[in-house]
Amino acid sequence: MRTDSFKGKDFITLLDWSKEEVETILDVSLDLKRRYATGEYHDHLLRAKTLFMIFYNQSLRTRNSFEAGMTQLGGHAHFLDPDKIYTPALEGKEVAYSTERVSDVARVLSRMGDGIAIRCYGDPVDWEYGGANALLHEFARWSDIPILNMEDDKYHPFQALADVLTVKEKFGGFKGTKFVMSWAYSPSIHKPRAVPQSAIIAASMMGCDTVLAHPPEFDLDPEVIAACEANAVMNNSSFTITHDFESAFEGAHVVYPKAWAPKVFFKPPVGQDDEAGAKRINDRYKNWKMTSELMETADHEAIYMHCLPADRGWEVNNDVIDHTDVKRGWKSVVYDEAENRLHVQKAVMTLVMGGRY
Ligand code: CP
Repeated sequence: MRTDSFKGKDFITLLDWSKEEVETILDVSLDLKRRYATGEYHDHLLRAKTLFMIFYNQSLRTRNSFEAGMTQLGGHAHFLDPDKIYTPALEGKEVAYSTERVSDVARVLSRMGDGIAIRCYGDPVDWEYGGANALLHEFARWSDIPILNMEDDKYHPFQALADVLTVKEKFGGFKGTKFVMSWAYSPSIHKPRAVPQSAIIAASMMGCDTVLAHPPEFDLDPEVIAACEANAVMNNSSFTITHDFESAFEGAHVVYPKAWAPKVFFKPPVGQDDEAGAKRINDRYKNWKMTSELMETADHEAIYMHCLPADRGWEVNNDVIDHTDVKRGWKSVVYDEAENRLHVQKAVMTLVMGGRY
């Protein structure tokens, strides 16, 4: 397909991209992965280009994969702490000489570099679901250079790309692959919906038989669910929701249990801003933990996935997440999945910030 249409495009959610475009991104990711593995320099692709990275939240994988990726492509990534610049803020949320309106930040950075990547969810937007996504869209409205979503409160599209690239590598494709994204217990409820929502979008878009498992109080965004259902129709595959943790994994090829906040935790109109109630609900489901016994019920060659960081001992037992480097039988692929963040991000940056690939 033509790849010059990618140049200048924002990358905020996979819902803005076609299946064919995502397949191209995965192809480019594998090519860049091969070049990295064989020591073939490719630092001409974004030579002397700059990515500004604004992190409102912590990060290990995202920050380092973007920084390393820009170095390998011949450019440079600036880390920007919102507390050390004037915190970019939406109109109406400004504080004199402490914040700076997003429209000004976006237009200034557009004059100096080639991409703006943003991570924002949770406390910086007071857990108002969609508030961080709106911030990214406001950046996109004013920026002349691509906006890259490094995780907001709705989507984590680069994680989802790394997830489906890992599935493609392990199984050779997606058709007939049972991909189970499940809620799992964590003592912390301060977890956005971005990873599960982007994972089910990506898996259903690529053609997996996608299963979403969670207790009834942990519903995801109805718009995301509708998009997954439409993807399943497009691919002649399936998308199902279950509230039964154990049966969800029967015969699964991909086992992806991960915590997110119960619905009541979010501010109205999505939830009830009820932190104490959310904690009580959360603690009812301590048995939603991935164990080696449960992995045995999945497909013989199943893979355990997690975006990391994982809450070991709560979401998953050590003997599951550490079950890597296995020749036969089920295994954990969490480090392959983390590495793939590097390759998919390099692919997207090359396509949207660079020239013709
Ligand atoms: N998976 C992921 O986004 O990791 P970080 O929070 O460390 O960036």
